[in-house]
Amino acid sequence: MDNYQILTSATSTNSVLKTMNIDELPPFFMLIAQQQTAGRGRGNNTWESEPDKNLLASILLKPQIAPCQQFNICRMVSLAVCKTLTDYCRIEHVKIKWPNDIYVNDKKIAGILIEHQICGNTIKYSIIGIGLNVNQTSFSPAIPNPTSIVLETCHEFDTLSIGRQIVDNIKFYNNLAQDRLEEDYLRLIYRLNKTSHFIIKQSETCIAATIQGVSSNGCLTLLMPDNSLQNFELNELKYVL
Ligand code: BTN
Repeated sequence: MDNYQILTSATSTNSVLKTMNIDELPPFFMLIAQQQTAGRGRGNNTWESEPDKNLLASILLKPQIAPCQQFNICRMVSLAVCKTLTDYCRIEHVKIKWPNDIYVNDKKIAGILIEHQICGNTIKYSIIGIGLNVNQTSFSPAIPNPTSIVLETCHEFDTLSIGRQIVDNIKFYNNLAQDRLEEDYLRLIYRLNKTSHFIIKQSETCIAATIQGVSSNGCLTLLMPDNSLQNFELNELKYVL
């Protein structure tokens, strides 16, 4: 079995990979589409991408860890995309906007959609959907602050080679100890120790708070206006900058 497959078109690579015979596929198998007709983002968002220009990939992981450790997968994959952009594409100032948007300066270059299949007390498999803007130069005005590898480097890149680098880098981070993973992830957090604006969903209030860290289970730790430290899960907070 090859460890990757390329489709000329897919609804969503995450959705198609879920319909494949996952038990027969090796870990780190990558499904790539040259275009998607129903690309999905986190929450209810869609993912738009010009055909044949970008990396649209889903990578299968079989992590064998407890669901309570799932944020490690988010850490590993975010770091792998950053390492690829920094070391292979030679882009500077690559950051992770918590939990897993990939930014260059103040612009989004990649988004990650992670979907787990949990069975009892283990994650049976995880599907890691990565949308990385590679050779696209113009974007719909509806997309806030997009950028791409070609816009950052003035060089076109081969999307398959980038996908393979990401897989190699996921394997690299997969072998790192938990504390190293946490340390590396925190070092790359976008706007760490800077004041940003957030909407607290429950009270619908907008606050100015400073990102202090990320807890081991993946909550964002904010220094609040009253100087207390509070941890937030993704569904409790909206980042407005
Ligand atoms: C986000 O930023 O909201 C996450 C975007 C993830 C997009 C990728 S493209 C490949 C894979 N297939 C999908 O339908 N979505 C992910």
